[in-house]
Amino acid sequence: MDWGMKNRLSQLIQPDGRAMFLPIDHGYFQGPTYRLEEPGKTIEPLLPYADAIMLTRGILRSCIDPAKSKPIILRVSGGTSMARKDELDQEGITTSVKEAIRLNASAVSMSIFVGAPNEHQTLLNLSNLVNECEEYGIPVMAVTAVGTELEKREARYLALACRIAAELGARVVKTYYCREGFEKVVRGCPVPIVMAGGPKVESELEVFEFVHDGIQKGAIGVNLGRNIWQHDHPVAMAKAIRAIIHEDATPKEAMSIFEEERSKEKDEE
Ligand code: 5RP
Repeated sequence: MDWGMKNRLSQLIQPDGRAMFLPIDHGYFQGPTYRLEEPGKTIEPLLPYADAIMLTRGILRSCIDPAKSKPIILRVSGGTSMARKDELDQEGITTSVKEAIRLNASAVSMSIFVGAPNEHQTLLNLSNLVNECEEYGIPVMAVTAVGTELEKREARYLALACRIAAELGARVVKTYYCREGFEKVVRGCPVPIVMAGGPKVESELEVFEFVHDGIQKGAIGVNLGRNIWQHDHPVAMAKAIRAIIHEDATPKEAMSIFEEERSKEKDEE
């Protein structure tokens, strides 16, 4: 592996082999997502807890201070919107590799839609992006997207999608956690896996348990957004999840970290 590729990957994956990525790219097809209406304000208090942030070039340029930034995972696919929910798999590549280099991205990311009508096109998008990015030592993180078909998040499907992403050259794969068989998803994917959170769930403990379980089963960390920044106490969530990832905190310990931070915030109010 070239020095540049190794260097970029080491900006993302920490010396302990783990990673906490914070995505705020949701607007690229969802518009002003709840609590991400002003991405700069949402992300600022959370930056200290993230190893890298994932976002589009537009939000990077307009909302992130280049002097205070974290490593960037630049989303470079898109071209669809929630206004045409049935066509979310019609993504193309929206941002050039030249632009990723100009923006000093540590990696680029794009979605593949395995099993969707445009599977073929999105898999070729990934292959072509990898061809170009490898020339410049830029890692590609593939996102195994399911669009609105959240029920697809089960082991057999996820294992298929993750393996294909790795076979086509992704250096990191972002996928969903599943309670049954997640270890098989990880075993079948020869590159590191990070877990997305999906739509916000009801309880904090549920999030801590799945992050912890996924890591025990071999994921290196998370690329988790809404369950942090849509929460009433996003900093407390970020701190607790970071402790699971980088300090091997149990879900119970993470809950204590969350509660301690939340009560500190309440005292300050
Ligand atoms: C959105 C994405 C997100 O980055 C990914 O889904 C993680 O975010 P969340 O934890 O909110 O699901 O790719 O298109």
